[in-house]
Amino acid sequence: MEMMENLQKIARQCGEIMLSAEDIERNITEKEGQKNFVTKYDVLVQKTLQKELLSLYPEAHFYGEEDGQQDDVHSGMAFIVDPIDGTTNFIKGYRVSVVSIGVAKDGEIICGVVYDPYTDTMYHAEKGKGAYVNGKRVYVSDCSLANSMVCVGTAPYYAEYTDRTFALARALFDNALDLRRSGSAALDLCAVGCGRADLMTEWVVCPWDFAAAKCIIEEAGGIMTQIDGSPMKLDGKCSILAGGKRAHAEFFEKGLHKI
Ligand code: IPD
Ligand code: CA
Ligand code: CA
Repeated sequence: MEMMENLQKIARQCGEIMLSAEDIERNITEKEGQKNFVTKYDVLVQKTLQKELLSLYPEAHFYGEEDGQQDDVHSGMAFIVDPIDGTTNFIKGYRVSVVSIGVAKDGEIICGVVYDPYTDTMYHAEKGKGAYVNGKRVYVSDCSLANSMVCVGTAPYYAEYTDRTFALARALFDNALDLRRSGSAALDLCAVGCGRADLMTEWVVCPWDFAAAKCIIEEAGGIMTQIDGSPMKLDGKCSILAGGKRAHAEFFEKGLHKI
């Protein structure tokens, strides 16, 4: 079976675990930073990803959000996974959370699958083969910044970024059409990848938040960089600015990267 089919099958299996979760409130522990929680389901989905992916591709490296394996992602094949992106939503029963599987080859993202089990929506892309939502080819928008709907992540676990987050949000609100915030960075990026939103930004994200969506955005004709225009980092925290090329360029022309 092709790798893409395998990844989608595994993502659906993880989605079933998310949908059948019970008693989430009684199975929460705190992680590093503020407001950062993990449920037994984050751990269970990550273990499922690890077991299923590595049994099919034993030579691959694995880099997951939750405690456990965080291998080198710069050599050979590596899976970069977020078992549940949108954990706060998941805990609250908000029903906006996804499973995200990115694949890197020698440090470059070559494949991505993001699955939203609540709407049964599968986002996928492979380098050179385009980006798709439920099998339909999608593209980023060609919107101006002024006409853009901008997804703003709030970097909720890092109090030291709150002032900059809201200063940037204010500037974007003044320079764009309106703001959105789903509570899942991966899902916001997928919205940009299929042209439903036009730009996404956040001061602090981790590789598992954007790995899969990076391939989706790029294959949809968009661009993903840090807020200062530098490349994304696959081995640590960084900022993010992703969207259609026009809105992304106008962000810099307006000097918003200096906020
Ligand atoms: C978080 C979500 C949130 C974003 C945070 C992420 P998690 O991931 O994507 O929308 O603002 O930066 O860490 O903790 O729910 O996997
Ligand atoms: Ca995440
Ligand atoms: Ca997560």
